[in-house]
Amino acid sequence: MVNRMTSQQSQSSTPAPLHMVDLIRKKRDGGALDQREIEYIVKLASSELAPLEQLAAWLMAAWLRGLSVDEARSLALAMRDSGVRFSPARLGKQAVDKHSTGGVGDKTSFLIAPLAAACGVAVPMISGRALGHTGGTLDKLEAIPGYRTDLELDEFEAVLMKCGCSIIGQTDELAPADRVLYALRDRTATVENPGLICGSILSKKLAAGLDSLVLDVKTGSGAFLRTYADTEFLAALLTATAESAGTRTVALLTDMGQPLGCAAGNWIELIECMKLFRGERPAEIEDLRELSLRLAGWMIHLGGQAETAEAGYARAEKALADGTALRIFLEMVAAHGGKTAVFDDPEAHHKPGATRVVEAWQSGYIVEMDTTALGWAVQRTGAGREHAGEKVDPHAGIVFHARRGAHVEKGQPFATLYATNATKLDEPETFLKQGVVFSDTPPQAVPLVSRIFDRSGAEAYLRECDRR
Ligand code: URA
Repeated sequence: MVNRMTSQQSQSSTPAPLHMVDLIRKKRDGGALDQREIEYIVKLASSELAPLEQLAAWLMAAWLRGLSVDEARSLALAMRDSGVRFSPARLGKQAVDKHSTGGVGDKTSFLIAPLAAACGVAVPMISGRALGHTGGTLDKLEAIPGYRTDLELDEFEAVLMKCGCSIIGQTDELAPADRVLYALRDRTATVENPGLICGSILSKKLAAGLDSLVLDVKTGSGAFLRTYADTEFLAALLTATAESAGTRTVALLTDMGQPLGCAAGNWIELIECMKLFRGERPAEIEDLRELSLRLAGWMIHLGGQAETAEAGYARAEKALADGTALRIFLEMVAAHGGKTAVFDDPEAHHKPGATRVVEAWQSGYIVEMDTTALGWAVQRTGAGREHAGEKVDPHAGIVFHARRGAHVEKGQPFATLYATNATKLDEPETFLKQGVVFSDTPPQAVPLVSRIFDRSGAEAYLRECDRR
């Protein structure tokens, strides 16, 4: 009896060693990994000699078989713990951030960070690079000459103290496992999976020590997850997982059935933001203004600076109108080493290698924009990368002159392509033409924000999914 107990104890205190090949096989065959197994994979991903071929195989198995809610949570927490955690306690304010699941022309971060900072919350924003067909906040910021996205954590804190917001990329210290897995997913067609997206996004957000988080979960033809049900599941998973890790979270499901605003690229997106910062209100970028204010309104509310998200919206609108947000944005750029003079005349700083105006190739209402195809068109101008580590062209991209629902006449300017050189104009034009559908009748309007999840809504949704 005594001997048997001793042997059981020794068995439970020395768990069997893990091997990556077994974990790939287990996932490949549809098994669920426990927390220790997921932690093992993440540890390998952040080790100096990460076995990239095995990690890629595991990612593909996870993509094909899916991750359970528990697996996704273990992945997010293990990835968060792969590096150090930033502590915003010394900022003396609630730390609140926003993260989007990725889109085309999605430039809200540049507006939102200073808007929320202007209203009294600290915004320690850790962003990513272009992924798949979507653009990356860091690539866009690096279109500002001198802007450093690679601040050390003490520099990050100093900028936050000074300006109230700072936008950086992952460092070797913060969620390093995501850096490896993010780049691998981009190269192995394993981006579009709710559990993997959840781990990736939340690893960075939880490592930033946020009090609250607002998620912009994209729906429609430009979203990573193409069905509305999958996107709802992702929003609920992100919200419930972040809440269970102690971060108050809401997720807004927002339309990515066409590019946000008109510009998609790098510098040209900043030109568009400057119009809003300077008080212009062009009808064709009203969606960008509205979504930025809605998201900022939620951040201001969750950060305790407004009773409701609507009151937060009103505060953000005032900070946009009175120039406070622009002042904070320029201060942040300067604090990151960026040259603010380029914003005096942003159009003058736009120096693309080649330009082509594409005319509408037929008449009719624009009823559909396959925004994934349009995103690839933008990438092929040189604005995104085809191979890991490639430099992106800050001046490449596309400005769309017509939006979903508009009636166009054949021959009128439809889009302007800006590319690194003339050889990079043909492929984007082909993608563009493949991505747009015309009709004699106008399409139905699509709401900009179609659903909002908070903690209880997310948990109820996931329980319902479990029952089905
Ligand atoms: N944004 C991220 O940071 N990770 C993803 O996987 C998708 C969007």
